[in-house]
Amino acid sequence: MRVVSGIQPTGNLHLGNYLGAIRNWVRMQDEMEDGSQCLFFLADLHAISMPHDPAELKAATLEMTAALVACGIDPAKSVLFNHAQVPAHAELQWLLGGTARMGWLNRMTQFKDKSGKNREGASIALFSYPVLQAADVLLYQATHVPVGDDQKQHLELARDIAQKFNNDFCTEDAPVFTLPEPYIPPQAARIMSLRDGSAKMSKSDPSEMSRINLSDDADTIMKKVKKAKSDADVLPSEAGGLEGRAEALNLVTIYAAVTGESVDAVLGQYGGEGFGKFKPALGEILVETLSPISARFRELKEDRESLDAILARGAAKARELGSDTLARTYAALGL
Ligand code: ADP
Ligand code: NA
Repeated sequence: MRVVSGIQPTGNLHLGNYLGAIRNWVRMQDEMEDGSQCLFFLADLHAISMPHDPAELKAATLEMTAALVACGIDPAKSVLFNHAQVPAHAELQWLLGGTARMGWLNRMTQFKDKSGKNREGASIALFSYPVLQAADVLLYQATHVPVGDDQKQHLELARDIAQKFNNDFCTEDAPVFTLPEPYIPPQAARIMSLRDGSAKMSKSDPSEMSRINLSDDADTIMKKVKKAKSDADVLPSEAGGLEGRAEALNLVTIYAAVTGESVDAVLGQYGGEGFGKFKPALGEILVETLSPISARFRELKEDRESLDAILARGAAKARELGSDTLARTYAALGL
């Protein structure tokens, strides 16, 4: 099994990013059996498809790297790198550009969503980045690609491109590309704002109290949990009893996600109690889980030399893993 997955580099990482995305990668890595491997990359080449600030992109790439390592991605077990240091991604994208059809890309709903009404003003990169995504996984002969609902269409496209390329340019017994299968990641938690149970916890929320940052220290975490919006009722003994109580549900969901228990199991323990008792308990398990992560994250974030070394090592490994497929692609095309 070879799993390849990318994430957009973003800064100001928070509990939602951890429980909703990063932790899944750590789980995937830890589930790999001997002979299987995960490649994780920061999709910094994707980031230029939308208006962006170069200094912010660089900072976000480094911050995300620090967060991934602090959260448990082990650069010795998994290949961790950023796109921009592995030119084969951009090369293969161009080479696959002869195979991908305009009509296929025209059907991509994400381009329609992201370009909005200003289709003519969208970048070429925004239009063609599903081809880069195909290159990202085909380059490494990925057998499995983790996909959420919004990415299913792009994986299908990667399979279509691989199949057409193999068909058009390869003999049946020597296809260049492996058709990757979807890997359905464990159900990720969706974490809401601590100030508003109807809004996602997000770095773009102007209120610092709305989110727990991966860099928060123990006191800050305890304070934010204590001030989190809740209600005056006691907790019910089953999840159904939280209907219409979005803030309460969110706090219990966070507790469950952090401990790995079900919401019902948490309520089995705290049903009948009010938030005066539940919040300190939640604060404590958050501190317990996040303290080692945030300490490591804060330290690594400032250690540019280590981050550069991690990414350089990962990129070297990725270049090596992709070189054979890239060479065979050139050859198949008569280049
Ligand atoms: P933000 O909403 O803070 O801008 P991003 O959009 O950069 O976060 O998301 C990065 C990753 O983290 C994505 O995979 C996204 O699904 C996940 N993520 C972000 N916010 C949450 C959240 N509140 N709950 C669960 N997952 C989240
Ligand atoms: Na966002």
